[in-house]
Amino acid sequence: MNEGYMLWEKSKKLIPGGNMLISKRPNLFAPRYWPTYYKKAKGCFVWDLENKKYTDMSIMGIGTNILGYGNEYVDDQVLKAIKFGNMSTLNCPEEVELAEQLIKIHPWANMVKFARSGGEANSIAVRIARAFSGKDKVIFCGYHGWHDWYISASNKKGALTEHLFQDLTSKGVPTSLNGTSIPFKWNDLSDLKRIIIKNKEEIGAIKMEVTRNIKPSKEFLKGVRELCDYYKIVLIFDECTSGFRETFGGLHLKYGIDPDISIFGKALGNGYAISAVIGKEKVMNAAKDSFISSTFWTERIGNLAGLATLKEMKRINSWNLITNLGEEIQNKWKLTAKESGIDISVGVLPAISSFKFNSKNSLEYKTFLTREFLKRNYLASNLLFVSTEHLKIDLSEYFEILKNVFEKIAMRESGEIKEKLVPDNELCGETFRRLN
Ligand SMILES: Cc1ncc(COP(=O)(O)O)c(C=O)c1O
Repeated sequence: MNEGYMLWEKSKKLIPGGNMLISKRPNLFAPRYWPTYYKKAKGCFVWDLENKKYTDMSIMGIGTNILGYGNEYVDDQVLKAIKFGNMSTLNCPEEVELAEQLIKIHPWANMVKFARSGGEANSIAVRIARAFSGKDKVIFCGYHGWHDWYISASNKKGALTEHLFQDLTSKGVPTSLNGTSIPFKWNDLSDLKRIIIKNKEEIGAIKMEVTRNIKPSKEFLKGVRELCDYYKIVLIFDECTSGFRETFGGLHLKYGIDPDISIFGKALGNGYAISAVIGKEKVMNAAKDSFISSTFWTERIGNLAGLATLKEMKRINSWNLITNLGEEIQNKWKLTAKESGIDISVGVLPAISSFKFNSKNSLEYKTFLTREFLKRNYLASNLLFVSTEHLKIDLSEYFEILKNVFEKIAMRESGEIKEKLVPDNELCGETFRRLN
């Protein structure tokens, strides 16, 4: 029994759910075996409580560290905030500089609000869109955080199945919000149009991720933009996860479709908390007619980390590096699966590479894979957020292990191995819908 497991058992008695982020719960990887807690993280390596060193071929802080853990340039800038004061009675000037930088990258935008998490930034964007449009309803597609405006959709049973989790419970979210947030189907313009027409006098915003487990067609994004223009709806792209993965900025830059508001989080501070809502002046100014304000949105670390991360990403063209490596990894996944004779589907965004086992035993295989990799000191699952640090390591051992794992899975799938690779009571749980 590892130390991490024992601490997790203790934690569950002290912290409801055990921790603060569902995606970092050990039951999503390999119950009982996943190390769960870390002592140190550097580059693409993580040390657990027993000082065992792992290569992180999994979620890399769930997408926060494109430049790897503990990037020296970013950390040096952050240390300045600590040396000269992270907080004071006055504002830090770096927030103005960071706002300027984000606008420079996205010429369609003229104003910015900062927060610290993606969910907060999403709530700010919805508040501004509602204030601007004077309309309450939001149509959305994707995952947008934990706040009431979004989770209220799941008051209608199953409404978030395709966007978040199956069987999501939403107790504590006022039922008076029912019907204010309505999901639409990804890449399906006619579904969106139908919802708009049904609710047209009341829709203030369309909020969506720019890509999900399938790529958007250019016509789809263009069509969404046209519908928003026609019905005077604020278009919000949530780029918390997709931002900076394939372009220097929002993924929408690649498609040439401008929203009215875009949201960034996750990778913006390379592991330090900073999120941003950028938008067109006429829309963003509506923030002044509402109340949007929070003490720690003014701390300096996030801004300095954001500025340093942007500078370093630009210097090394990180989005190209992680996309190219992600493509290579995806191709090798496909080849290894083919050679082993198993059926997998691979996700679309190379910098956030994922695959799924096309089998009724997918959770058994996923858990087995993680357990086998742990034996060889890798944190691995079917999802990999690629970082520039992964370019510095030799991946041949990773693929050798993967080949052995896939071959064993093929034998189990064909019935050659009769016994389950993982007992039922040790299977991992389902992750977010869009990831596999
Ligand atoms: C697209 C998107 N929006 C919002 C969020 C929520 O961000 P946070 O967990 O920082 O609140 C996430 C997190 O996974 C996300 O992927």
